[in-house]
Amino acid sequence: MLTADDKKMIQQTWDKVSGHAEAVGEEALWRLFITYPQTKTYFPHFDLTRGSEQVRSHGKKVVNALTNAIKNMDNLSQALSELSNLHAYNLRVDPVNFKLLSQCFQVVLAVNLGKDYTPEVHAAFDKFLSAVAAVLAEKYR
Ligand code: HEM
Repeated sequence: MLTADDKKMIQQTWDKVSGHAEAVGEEALWRLFITYPQTKTYFPHFDLTRGSEQVRSHGKKVVNALTNAIKNMDNLSQALSELSNLHAYNLRVDPVNFKLLSQCFQVVLAVNLGKDYTPEVHAAFDKFLSAVAAVLAEKYR
């Protein structure tokens, strides 16, 4: 459960990065594909070399989806419903992968925000990204 303080920290932190959606998304995906190479199997149709047009454009879409989720933190299921359908029924992404991508986003935030990424902010994002992952995976049952 996200507290009012968690929500505030998430909004304030995301404000610092959401203007760089493409760079942030690309860095998270680059980390995902290097650290967990099995995730590349979902993107056989992509050029996965660092900074490719496809990865940058996809990264931007993912970050914008998270920005939208942050605007709708009280109503995540509804805000992410379409994406949940897509990932469960069309793409059939194994839910374990959501945790891997969340981990990569955490590292991107930590690397880019340095000391501003306090344990409290880290904990708030951990809760938020877990909630997003839970919604994206809820249609699998
Ligand atoms: C597509 C968001 C996790 C695989 C998308 C799209 C968005 C998105 C916004 C584009 C939808 C559209 O074009 O209408 C997210 C979010 C995630 C997440 C917010 C979690 C925080 C993952 C994970 C994988 C994955 C973990 C697999 C490792 C894909 C694939 C596509 C896609 C294969 C289609 C790409 C294409 O052909 O253009 N996702 N995603 N997603 N996602 Fe995710």
